[in-house]
Parts: sequence; C-alpha cells; structure tokens
Amino acid sequence: MDQHTIGLADAMADAARAMDEGLDQLLPRPEGGEARLFEAMRYSTIGGGKRLRGFLVLEGSRQFNVSHESALRVACAIEMVHAYSLIHDDLPAMDDDDLRRGKPTSHKAFDEATAILAGDALQTQAFHVLAGEETHPDPAVRIELVRLLARAAGARGMVAGQALDMAAEQAAQPLDESQIGRLQLLKTGKLIEFSAEAGAVLGKAPGSLRMALGAYGRELGAAFQIADDLLDATATAEQAGKATGKDAGAGKATLVSLLGLERARIQAERLVEQARRHLDLFDERADLLRKLATYVIERRN
Ligand code: IPE
Ligand code: IPE
Ligand code: MG
Ligand code: MG
Ligand code: MG
Repeated sequence: MDQHTIGLADAMADAARAMDEGLDQLLPRPEGGEARLFEAMRYSTIGGGKRLRGFLVLEGSRQFNVSHESALRVACAIEMVHAYSLIHDDLPAMDDDDLRRGKPTSHKAFDEATAILAGDALQTQAFHVLAGEETHPDPAVRIELVRLLARAAGARGMVAGQALDMAAEQAAQPLDESQIGRLQLLKTGKLIEFSAEAGAVLGKAPGSLRMALGAYGRELGAAFQIADDLLDATATAEQAGKATGKDAGAGKATLVSLLGLERARIQAERLVEQARRHLDLFDERADLLRKLATYVIERRN
C-alpha cells in the first residue's frame, strides 16, 4: 500500500464492520415461511464487498458533523440498493454469473425466484430505512433522500444504465465514447453520486458544498467503472471475487474495448484528478475522500 492510501484501509475496514452491524439490525431475521427470502437478503449484503458507497456516505457525513446513527442508516440503505443491483446483474437473464464477492451468486446459492425477490425486497427495505424517523429528525431531509435515491436507482439512473448495457450487447454498431460515458454515468455513476452527496443532504450543507461532493462522486463513479472494466480484462477471478475476462466475449460496451487498456487507464487517471479537484473547497477532514479517489483506480478487487 503506498503513501496515498495509508489510513484508508483501516478506515474502510472500520466502516465495513459498522455497516455489517447496521445491516444485521435493519434486515429481517430468518424465521417463518419467508425464512429463505430473508436469508437470501442477508447473504448478499452482510459480510462482503468493498462498501465504497456506504463509506462515501459516512465520510461525506463527517464533513458536516452528521450523527453516526443517521449516516450509518443511509450507508446501509445505499448498500442494500447496490446489493440488489448486483443480485439482478448476476442473473442468467443478465450477466449470468456464478461467483460474487468470492462466493456463489444469489441464484446459485438459493434459486432464481428467491434471488429476484431478495433483490426486490432489498430495494424496498432501503427506502423504508430512509423514510424512518431515526434517519433524520426533519421529514424534509428524509423526503429529499428518498427522492434522490429513487432517481439515482431507477429509470433515470442505474436501471437505465443496465438497460443500455444489455442493449449494447445486441447492437449492430459498437457504442462510441460519449455513448459509453453516458451508459456508465447511469449504470454506476448515479448511485456513487448519491452516496457522495447524501452526507451534505443529512447535514443541510450549503448548495456549493453539496454540488462539489456530487461532482466528486460523478467523476469517481466514472473512474470506478473503468477500473472495474480494466479488472475484468486483467485480474483473476480469485483476485476479483467474481468471474473475469467475460466482457469482451459478451460484447459489453466498455472504454477498454473501445480504447484499449492503456488509454482506458489514462482516462481513469484523468477522472480521478478531476474528482480530487472538486474537493478543493474542503479542509483536511476530506483527506480520506482524496485518498479514496486514488484507491478507486489502484484497487486490485
Ligand atoms: C460492482 O461494484 C459493480 C460495479 C458497479 C462495477 P463493486 O465493485 O463496488 O462491488 P462490491 O460491493 O465491492 O462487491
Ligand atoms: C454492473 O456492472 C453495474 C451494476 C449496476 C450492478 P458490471 O456488470 O460490470 O458489474 P460486475 O463486473 O458484474 O460487478
Ligand atoms: Mg452488468
Ligand atoms: Mg456483471
Ligand atoms: Mg464488470
């Protein structure tokens, strides 16, 4: 680990532990006739993943002295939506993957119907958590979070990006750079932008700071997806915890397929620099967010 990321790994590990405890509290306990569904919800959320999105919520919140309970609930909510997106992304009808976070995907560990339902229920549980009084005393703040996450996750956000991703596999012409940029902004960028901005919403921060965090999240999200595509082309399944080497054969529209490894990497580095620049308005309390930008492209999983 180089000097840019010292301190970040420990902070991310602490945050992941807190999110695991939070998710354990916020998800239903397996019992009764629905036990299999509840087990599947827990299987795909607790104890795995890098927790990048939740970490962004926690670090963004720290800039504005938001209470730990508020921030943790929103961090858990975004991780529920993210986990739902992965469960559905892995289904046979989409990317058809057997391995996720180093273990069998939900439809392999359970069955397709349970996986679909676990994704559905994780999504709605996230909004239930955001709307809960414990998330913020001001109902206007809770409504704003619900509105922003609905937008980021749905037909103008992640789901739209996934639709474009699937359509590109069948397209007669490969997508150009700006089409790929839009696809990735929607598919990956929108949830990461929400995550970066959420702390400012919880903290009722000035518009300029909220916008700066959102812009940081957008650039970070774009770099993050390029890094994911680079890992697909260069990492082993053991390193990544998921199957790799599949995007090219599946006809996925990525900057790696369009520009090649080297130019895609340069583009990701440029985006990370831009992301960092949006943090210039913040003091040294934002140093972990600065380090996170570097981590996003240097990560090996
Ligand atoms: C994988 O996301 C899907 C993408 C948007 C690239 P992550 O790489 O954040 O997955 P986890 O949460 O760490 O497993
Ligand atoms: C998925 O992108 C992004 C989502 C919205 C889930 P990928 O399909 O590239 O993610 P991985 O590689 O399966 O994690
Ligand atoms: Mg996919
Ligand atoms: Mg996939
Ligand atoms: Mg991928």
